[in-house]
Amino acid sequence: MAASGRFISLEGMDGCGKSTQARLLVERLRAQGCEVVQTREPGGSEGAEDIRRLLVEGDPGRWSPETEILLFTAARRDHLERLIAPALARGAIVVTDRFADSTRVYQGAARADLRGVVDQLHSLMIKQEPDLTLVLDMEPDAALIRGLARKSGEDRFEDMGLGFQQRLRDGFRALTRADPKRCKLIAAEGAEEAVAERVFAAVSEAFHE
Ligand code: TMP
Repeated sequence: MAASGRFISLEGMDGCGKSTQARLLVERLRAQGCEVVQTREPGGSEGAEDIRRLLVEGDPGRWSPETEILLFTAARRDHLERLIAPALARGAIVVTDRFADSTRVYQGAARADLRGVVDQLHSLMIKQEPDLTLVLDMEPDAALIRGLARKSGEDRFEDMGLGFQQRLRDGFRALTRADPKRCKLIAAEGAEEAVAERVFAAVSEAFHE
């Protein structure tokens, strides 16, 4: 794969194994000699990590969905300005654990029916889309058990329950159907090495030149 500015995001519900898969993908790309910047949302830059703590800790009802959209978008703008855009400009591959699709699904569909607001704010403040989005898909109950078992102290969204996780799954699948060129659905059940192979196959196919 050519090491020229590529933007890859991994998406999916809590506990679907995104973070592990992001790490395995980054290791594999680096082993091929690519410059890879590994990052995550909310967070990825100093200011965005500060905003992250406001978002993922505390009571599920701490913020309204509207306020959440503003906070996630503020964090994303800082992340984009300070980390993602400079890395892409110098030709690096950026692998991010979540990006704008998470806001589309969590705040735009699962938490509330606010997709129009999410899209407007995105086109005003972010504009950037990944070149490739890998949507990790699995049964919501398995993902929820895995997510809560981590006891990360960042369970505000996991605490919204199984019905919420099911809405997330439906939302991510709908998004994949709506933009099949950019978004690839990856079966995330099974051994992590097997999932990693599926992820890498999707990346190779997308960037095959
Ligand atoms: P993480 O657990 O994948 O690090 O993400 C933190 C939580 O934030 C997770 O439950 C998903 C949620 N989230 C949103 O609700 N909207 C967003 O735009 C992003 C990036 C994350």
